[in-house]
Amino acid sequence: MNILGIESSCDETGVAVVSFEGSEAPRLRGQALHSQVQMHEAYGGVVPELASRDHVRRVLPLAEAALAEAALSVRDIDVIAFTRGPGLAGALLVGAGVACGLAAALNRPTLGVHHLEGHLLSPFLSADPPRFPFVALLVSGGHTQLMRVDGVGQYELLGETIDDAAGEAFDKSAKLLGLGYPGGPALAKLAERGRPDAYELPRPLLHQPNLDFSFAGLKTAVMTTLKRLGPEVSDAQRADLAASTQAAIVEVLVRKAMRALRDTGLRRLVVAGGVGANARLRRDLGADCARRGVQLHYPELALCTDNGAMIALAAAMRCQAGRAALSNEHRFAVRPRWELADAGQS
Ligand code: KG4
Ligand code: ZN
Repeated sequence: MNILGIESSCDETGVAVVSFEGSEAPRLRGQALHSQVQMHEAYGGVVPELASRDHVRRVLPLAEAALAEAALSVRDIDVIAFTRGPGLAGALLVGAGVACGLAAALNRPTLGVHHLEGHLLSPFLSADPPRFPFVALLVSGGHTQLMRVDGVGQYELLGETIDDAAGEAFDKSAKLLGLGYPGGPALAKLAERGRPDAYELPRPLLHQPNLDFSFAGLKTAVMTTLKRLGPEVSDAQRADLAASTQAAIVEVLVRKAMRALRDTGLRRLVVAGGVGANARLRRDLGADCARRGVQLHYPELALCTDNGAMIALAAAMRCQAGRAALSNEHRFAVRPRWELADAGQS
């Protein structure tokens, strides 16, 4: 079975082909990706209309490239999967429209995939795939969630951010520090030269006995600190502030992930989403998991941020689990807002 996956929820156009036989683990056969980061950089963030138009330009050439790498023709594709949501409505409509158009022309079914399910299952394409059940820490630009995952489509929300996402906290703090977009990698780079204990920044909800997060206060604290330092802020002070910001975000993520493992009694942790690429988060989670005998799984670094492979993989795993709501109607609808826990059955 060959599945074409299309991701277009935000600022990356990704297309990939994943194949499987029976119940064997799905394999990534070919993939192509275009990041719009450079295009949005000038505006300091994603411009939705520009994103949609760029997806239109990129998606078919990327599909051809992914198929060529897989050495398959479009007629070899059995199911066409696309990101149904959550994400930018216009951007999602491009992937959905192309998927449904192709499917109608080829007389194949489509499958709308939840973007976070793609992130969550992406470690199954790594050399060291996890086994169910596990706790998942989903940390992206739009989401920060802890989930209990018992199988494909069996997701229970344990806790989530009540305001900004972890990636958003990185991005907004980076902007205040005068760094480009996307801010996460830039802030992490600046933090390498700074002292993480230089500034005392808030760690909201850290000591509350729940698994929720709150990051909105952090950017305010970064702003207040910068105001206090005045216009003459030195490079060393900026690096210290970057390191302190990163330390605050990472500490909350690590402590809450450990609490989720303790509360559920599970011994496996999967980390997915763009912030999962952060080196300090990886180091600190690695140390705590090793101490507690918890197995820690990540997607391959290249699959941490948005891509088509994770969408094709999630579709493949749903087909294998008998949980794929395949549609032959090709009436496409997207869901810009969509809770993962609600995506269990469809
Ligand atoms: O999952 P993703 O590619 O897109 C969304 O679905 O949101 O995540 C993007 C987020 C951005 O906020 C970006 O700044 C952050 O992930 N990010 C990082 C790093 N790489 C990407 N944050 C911290 N450190 C990094 N190395
Ligand atoms: Zn994402």
